[in-house]
Amino acid sequence: MALNTTNPTGTEAWKNLQNHYNAIHGTTIQELFQQDNARAEKFNLQWNDFLVDYSKNNISQETVSLLLELANSIGLKDAVAQYFGGALINQTENRAVLHTALRAPESAVIKVDGENVIPEVYEVKNKIKNFTNKVISGERKGFTGKAFTDIVNIGIGGSDLGPVMAVEALQFYKNHLNTHFVSNVDGDHVNEIIKKLNPETTLFLIVSKTFTTQETLSNSETIKEWFLKSGSQEDIAKHFVAVSTNIQKVTEFGINPDNVFPMWDWVGGRFSLWSAVGLSIALAIGFDNYNQLLVGANELDEHFKSAEFDENIPVILALLSVWYNNFFGAESEALIPYTQYLSKLAPYLQQATMESNGKSVGRDGKPVDYQTGTIIWGEPGTNSQHAFFQLIHQGTKLIPTDFIGFVKPLYGNEDHHNKLMSNFFAQTEALLNGKTPAQVQAEFDKQGLSADKASYLLPFKVFTGNKPTNTILIQKLTPKSLGSLIALYEHKIFVQGVIWNIFSFDQWGVELGKQLANSILDEINSKTVKNHDSSTSFLLNHFLKNK
Ligand code: F6P
Repeated sequence: MALNTTNPTGTEAWKNLQNHYNAIHGTTIQELFQQDNARAEKFNLQWNDFLVDYSKNNISQETVSLLLELANSIGLKDAVAQYFGGALINQTENRAVLHTALRAPESAVIKVDGENVIPEVYEVKNKIKNFTNKVISGERKGFTGKAFTDIVNIGIGGSDLGPVMAVEALQFYKNHLNTHFVSNVDGDHVNEIIKKLNPETTLFLIVSKTFTTQETLSNSETIKEWFLKSGSQEDIAKHFVAVSTNIQKVTEFGINPDNVFPMWDWVGGRFSLWSAVGLSIALAIGFDNYNQLLVGANELDEHFKSAEFDENIPVILALLSVWYNNFFGAESEALIPYTQYLSKLAPYLQQATMESNGKSVGRDGKPVDYQTGTIIWGEPGTNSQHAFFQLIHQGTKLIPTDFIGFVKPLYGNEDHHNKLMSNFFAQTEALLNGKTPAQVQAEFDKQGLSADKASYLLPFKVFTGNKPTNTILIQKLTPKSLGSLIALYEHKIFVQGVIWNIFSFDQWGVELGKQLANSILDEINSKTVKNHDSSTSFLLNHFLKNK
């Protein structure tokens, strides 16, 4: 089985959508609300403790029907079955894509090459459970007999961003262990972290699926060197563990095979926090909380698998995104969580989204002639309101925005939470309705502004509104709701990739830079600049002369 190679723009559904777009183009979202004040009741989805209001979009029932027709004509149902069923849908790497198996219940049967992978998944889960319990309780000790106080995750990309995001997001649920993350090959990064550590009480997790990644291996070597100034070679077994598929390389590094947490090639790096890559999360919040994250993701998986497309949150969000990306020409989407805890959500989803869907070759091997992956960016509200919201409100670009908020705060500070959430609701209202010239003039009149001043200032103070938003309102930020939220975006990415006829689960685009960096490193080390374009040679010569 393989995903089909249907060019979406050749389908009848796409043509219908294009005609529909031509017909509705110019209609504003404000007008849609004037025509039908019950939009919110029609365009919302409620699932578990999630409420998704997508009424503030430039859509009608007809738009949704046409988008659903597109999903159907592209064969989304079959693609979902292949995704969850372990088909080799990461075709250019000949791999299944089964991060969903990592959060499936123990009774599930999910086969790769005819073998049920669930028993192995649970074996590793139990290993994570035993290990984290021992570290947290202090039973597992460092080389001088002291309990661990600090955990350092050494990894990059998918071996870093998920754990960083989740540990930050769930810090309310954290125990006494301090968690640090080293990712960049920039030596200043690792040195700034080392400075905070005591080798006797620090546990290092080297997380690298391939165990060949330059950044991770360099940082691990630097840390090992630093550690060996206090501990001995044998002490490494107590302080270093690895998460990897490459047991041979891990052993060569000096890590005891008992301290290796395996993962599988059917888990992509950017979807791997559900595997032992999430070990730092389990250590930071305890295994039970970590498991809740997986439970939440699994519940969303079940929703995605079984809900009809018109009631399916990831499907609807993906289709809306396609609508803006491919018909309105929107190039980016903002993601604004109204909680400081989710400050790393946008960087995390940048990798998940842009490494997955930043492709320009179709599944048929031919260049696509339409837009694919959207650019994702964002920061928590209200900080982002004081930074870049000006551009969303009054700039020239169309930026569909997801607002993510929570009904309940974690510390229960009502005053703060009411202020935070009043901003949350106000922003989507402002983006929808804007402020008309008449409203601005009325304000001027009230202020008694002179006619001259008023007519000069008026155009600057008008907001056109008509800016699309989705509101995702969740009861409370818990490990479980976070798991569901992440899974929701994972499946949104999948649906978009299927529709765009691209392979979402490879990442060949990161290879060229790596290759060139390796040969440039040789030139820097040998101080001989070889053949490059004139700009690169000029820069390298300047660097070598002045370093
Ligand atoms: O950025 C490329 C990439 O391959 C990511 O997909 C991956 O998450 C990251 O590098 C790290 O890879 P590894 O876990 O093998 O060190």
